[in-house]
Amino acid sequence: MDELKIIEAVNLIINSKSITAFTGAGISVESGIPTFRGKEGLWSKYDPNILDLNTYKNNPEKSWPIIKKLFFDYMGNAKPNTAHLSLYKLQELGFLKATITQNIDSLHQQAGNSNVFEFHGNARQLVCFNCDETELVSETTLTNNPPKCKNCDGLLKPDFVFFGEGISESVYVNSRKYSENCDIMLVIGTTGEIVPASSFPYLAKENGAKIIEINTEKSTYTDSITDVFLQGKATEVMSKLVETLEKFIK
Ligand code: APR
Repeated sequence: MDELKIIEAVNLIINSKSITAFTGAGISVESGIPTFRGKEGLWSKYDPNILDLNTYKNNPEKSWPIIKKLFFDYMGNAKPNTAHLSLYKLQELGFLKATITQNIDSLHQQAGNSNVFEFHGNARQLVCFNCDETELVSETTLTNNPPKCKNCDGLLKPDFVFFGEGISESVYVNSRKYSENCDIMLVIGTTGEIVPASSFPYLAKENGAKIIEINTEKSTYTDSITDVFLQGKATEVMSKLVETLEKFIK
């Protein structure tokens, strides 16, 4: 890990007034949750069409078993890792004001972060296409294929955003606000390939923010808008960053 770049990033953080984090699947890899892209990514093994809204609506029995396996059976037991916990520390120290995440795993909240905007929704509940009733995953059986609403027997879908589905208005508005008004955006573990989520680092940059990026590999941001690229695993880089920051502010 490049010590000089860590110091450069810490200097930016110390002099910042408002940091927003923008996170993707890479921050949860070391909690055991696979990424979507890359050699071991989910989309190299499964057809992303299982998350297409119309495909699910028209043939839920086909998509549901795979969705259940990937996003509930497997992800459900994941715990926050040191990267999530380091972000919580950054909030506790008063530097981090908001986290915009593309992840649906709720690990930022489990780590203690507040002001988390789940741009692609979450896997904590299912919602009924017919009557909009929601059911907590922890209080409902997922063994029915497909899951049906207790209230009206309508088809339930996970409360995360499918391809072809809109984004929550309030989440969008808040994500824009915290992108336009931060002076640092901490971009962690994302390829930056999925719109409109991937627009936020560009929006932050356009509004004068410095971009500190943490990733094991270069992304679409690295050679275009990133000011400080900290190459490495999110757990290792984030813990080093916060450890160094704490030495400077003691
Ligand atoms: N530490 C940091 N970064 C990592 C690590 C790690 N240990 N492991 C992998 N990465 C990086 C990869 O280099 C890659 O840039 O994490 C990123 C994962 O990229 P994607 O799988 O494309 O995930 P993400 O960018 O979050 O995808 C965005 O696409 O399919 C949709 O809705 C889905 O929210 C998802 C969106």
